[in-house]
Amino acid sequence: MPIKRWIPHPVKQALKHRISDWRFNRAFAAFRRAPRLALSNRDLLGELRRGWGNEGWAADTEYLEVVLERALALRGPVLECGSGLSTLLVGAIAEHEGMELWTLEHHPGWFDCVRKQLNRYALRSTRLILAPIEDYGEFSWYRPPLEDMPGRFTLVICDGPPGDTPGGRYGLLPVMRERLSATAEILLDDTSRPAEARIARRWGQESGATVTFLGRDNGFASIKLGG
Ligand SMILES: C[S@@+](CC[C@H](N)C(=O)[O-])C[C@H]1O[C@@H](n2cnc3c(N)ncnc32)[C@H](O)[C@@H]1O
Repeated sequence: MPIKRWIPHPVKQALKHRISDWRFNRAFAAFRRAPRLALSNRDLLGELRRGWGNEGWAADTEYLEVVLERALALRGPVLECGSGLSTLLVGAIAEHEGMELWTLEHHPGWFDCVRKQLNRYALRSTRLILAPIEDYGEFSWYRPPLEDMPGRFTLVICDGPPGDTPGGRYGLLPVMRERLSATAEILLDDTSRPAEARIARRWGQESGATVTFLGRDNGFASIKLGG
């Protein structure tokens, strides 16, 4: 009889968790040493996703690559909607490059989980904010602490709130427009879903932004303000 059949289920789960954690820790250390190299290293990004272990929800490799490339290229504060693996990776870049990352998260349990990871890796340039979803009338969206936030975000990583929020991710532009730089870029994930694709087009129509659909596997879009 194979030995693994003798291992009780809870012990197996604990072992799996330890192995994922070890994998993530090792891959994250490699990423932090040379974040630019990760752009051409899909294996490393894949390893980070597997180690993070929330694969149904974490940003996919193609979207992450573009997010990381822009975070490394653009100067200025970054706004993120919806936290997770991307928060750790962009948080590491922010630490390395002397930038600020502001991340909005509505779910208290998930907020605690991501906060623990940020503390574990001492990512102090990341401001993770517990921002409840508020009803704005036509749509619902996060309630951000505008009075504390920077004036001009240059990049927005838009991977939340979840799709069952009334209006989905639409609220970003009406609520945050005044806090985005005139040439800010929004990277909107999940535009292979009709609701997110409609939001990208609507933002383009309402703000004159240039909308480009990208991605081979799961689609995402770049929305560039200022044409
Ligand atoms: C698509 S996820 C954001 C993922 C993040 N960009 C990443 O790379 O991991 C959007 C929101 O879903 C929620 N979420 C994350 N993981 C979840 C899970 N396993 N089950 C339910 N909700 C989850 C969190 O509130 C998060 O802000």
